[in-house]
Amino acid sequence: MKVDDVKNIAVIGAGNMGHQIALLAAIQGFNTTCTDVVPEILAKAEAFADKYLPGRVAKEKLTQEQADAARSRLTFTNDLAEAVGEADYVIEAVLEVLELKRKIFADLDRLTPAHAILATNSSAIVSSKIADVTSRPEKVLNLHFFNPALVMKLVEVVQGPHVSDEAAQLSMALCDRLGKVSVHVKKEVEGFLLNRILEAINKEALWLLEMGVASFEDIDKAQVFGAGHPMGAFRLMDLTGIDLNYIMAMEKFRASGNEAHLPSPSVVERYITGNYGQKTGKGWYDYSEES
Ligand code: 3HC
Repeated sequence: MKVDDVKNIAVIGAGNMGHQIALLAAIQGFNTTCTDVVPEILAKAEAFADKYLPGRVAKEKLTQEQADAARSRLTFTNDLAEAVGEADYVIEAVLEVLELKRKIFADLDRLTPAHAILATNSSAIVSSKIADVTSRPEKVLNLHFFNPALVMKLVEVVQGPHVSDEAAQLSMALCDRLGKVSVHVKKEVEGFLLNRILEAINKEALWLLEMGVASFEDIDKAQVFGAGHPMGAFRLMDLTGIDLNYIMAMEKFRASGNEAHLPSPSVVERYITGNYGQKTGKGWYDYSEES
């Protein structure tokens, strides 16, 4: 398959990342289906598209015709078979739970055309832990977008040892068509490229906070006003989800057994109280007040 043959994209999971990846694909000209098992999440994703596209027209970033065409290319369904039956390229963006992903990839292998590439947007789970449940491991890879996926240009294309050059090259060409900048990650390392760098910053920011050196607001200010980062570590955790931060740290701890990888106490505290960040209205910052 060549990139020109990719007409239909299916996005599995309509949450934080999936709803924006699906909308992006539709805006960039692909027939896109977006699916989720949770009706409320799917409805929220659809409502987002219906609000976002007119917003782009109002901001003159899209013409009315482009917005209408994008909307007509985007379908939401809770039926996985219907979503992926004609897919040329699938992007899975469900919860970071290995067994769930393995189950979904086994289903995808059964339900998608044999030529389809099956990508995971996982932040943490390398595709070699999933590919063996399919009959096409050479077409199973990590395609890692960044939050918010409609805005952030970077996509990491991770070529594990089982991935064919053809699938990796096609995925990078697809990123071009999606208006993204792809980087080729040639080895499967935990956290790929950027999350490793962000994690180092995060760890340091949390250490400074927990040692009482500065407030989280001031640590964020230091990053923004001293280093020109668009947002500091705490505001960014609120955007990507403190739950994700917790889950990724726990995954790392389980894999390594190294206690240094455990989530830090202030992250655990927010995780167990359900304060995940923007999506719950409160994390480090309080979004109900802000709004
Ligand atoms: N969804 C969609 N679009 C959004 C958005 C959102 N949540 N937030 C902002 N935007 C768009 C706006 O519509 C605007 O678009 P336009 O310029 O084309 O009209 C543009 O982004 C700028 O928005 P604002 O002026 O309102 O706000 P900012 O200038 O502060 O930008 C930001 C917001 C883009 C989120 C910026 O703060 C930023 O770049 N932050 C850093 C984000 C980051 O580091 N992401 C990576 C996280 S790590 C990750 O995702 C990995 C994963 O594995 C966890």
